[in-house]
Amino acid sequence: MRYFGTMSAREKIPVAVLGATGAVGQKFVRLLVNHPWFEVGALAASQRSAGRPYAEAVSWKQPSQIPLDIAEMTVQSCWAELNCPIVFSGLDSSVAGKLEQEFARRGSWVFSNAKNHRMDADVPLVIAELNSEHLQLVPLQQEKRGWHGAIVTNANCSTIILALSLGPLQQRFGLKRVQAVTFQAISGAGYPGVPSWDVLGNVVPYIAGEEEKIESETQKILGGLGKGRIDSAPIRISAQANRVPVEEGHLQCVSIEFHDPPSQQEILKCWRDFGGLPQQLELPSAPPEPILVCNQPDRPQPRLDIHAGKGMSITVGRLRPCPVMDFKYVVLGHNTVRGAAGASILNAELVEATAGREG
Ligand SMILES: NC(=O)c1ccc[n+]([C@@H]2O[C@H](COP(=O)([O-])OP(=O)(O)OC[C@H]3O[C@@H](n4cnc5c(N)ncnc54)[C@H](OP(=O)(O)O)[C@@H]3O)[C@@H](O)[C@H]2O)c1
Repeated sequence: MRYFGTMSAREKIPVAVLGATGAVGQKFVRLLVNHPWFEVGALAASQRSAGRPYAEAVSWKQPSQIPLDIAEMTVQSCWAELNCPIVFSGLDSSVAGKLEQEFARRGSWVFSNAKNHRMDADVPLVIAELNSEHLQLVPLQQEKRGWHGAIVTNANCSTIILALSLGPLQQRFGLKRVQAVTFQAISGAGYPGVPSWDVLGNVVPYIAGEEEKIESETQKILGGLGKGRIDSAPIRISAQANRVPVEEGHLQCVSIEFHDPPSQQEILKCWRDFGGLPQQLELPSAPPEPILVCNQPDRPQPRLDIHAGKGMSITVGRLRPCPVMDFKYVVLGHNTVRGAAGASILNAELVEATAGREG
């Protein structure tokens, strides 16, 4: 695996953000400010935004001002040569498929949040702490597609939060069946997203395509690296997705069944002890504890717990026996940080750090 450039205290790796004006794109911009390894080299979006200064093109929804140098950058077309070895994609799925392939063909490593390539057999769907070995698909992808770049994907925002809570349990004890009911924030639908008329004082019990993504993507992430492919984890998963009038943070109520059930204490210990390669390598975006366990009976809550680990930790709580399955619990995660931009940046850091070490 190649790495992106020589790092020195002065020299940072230029990265491009595709879909820079959207909800995920804005989070990329915010998280990349003062990043120790990466700096924003290009911002791109649709023809509606191209040619305009970023501050004019974007409807900025982040709780800090746009940094001046970024505010003045001209938004480019996504079809332009952006000349960055790393490309972060927060593109709408209507255009992400072809554009991401084009950047990989030109030699960039694309870290994508769009659904288009997640389930492609030669594309890794990575949660850095859980399945970094799936990155071994990249040389196969490059050979098969005849490109020097790569596409590495993030899962759907609810999937990342659910899979991160399930992963350590699957690795340690082996899961048989999972049921998850989601309560998803409006920022998960991008900006302007769900009309206020539909969601204020309401719950919408349908998010197009979401349940299927949660079920299939979780099986891929928790699956094993076979010969040139991922063998899906043989876990039966059933998801029900709901949109709720919360700004940020996806909450999920989860029931789980094991082949050989551990004790409640063993599950809690497994979550508390969990860490992966990002923690070992002390990557810049890695939270010290990817999974936080809270004890209060009425937590986690989006308003109170969403910023745990700077948005990169998920919070689990309310673990208790389930009369139908073995156990049930609640999990919360930040959908645009751990569920999107932050997770992509962590994947890029992981590739840079591991390939750099080999080099
Ligand atoms: N929101 C989340 O929590 C979340 C989490 C995980 C994954 N995702 C995925 O991440 C992607 C972005 O989501 P979002 O919530 O940020 O959506 P969004 O707010 O609607 O932003 C979409 C972005 O795509 C750009 N775009 C739209 N049409 C384009 C075109 N024809 N050519 C080039 N650029 C185009 C938009 O640019 P303009 O502003 O110029 O139109 C905007 O920058 C989606 O694929 C989504 O499924 C979202």
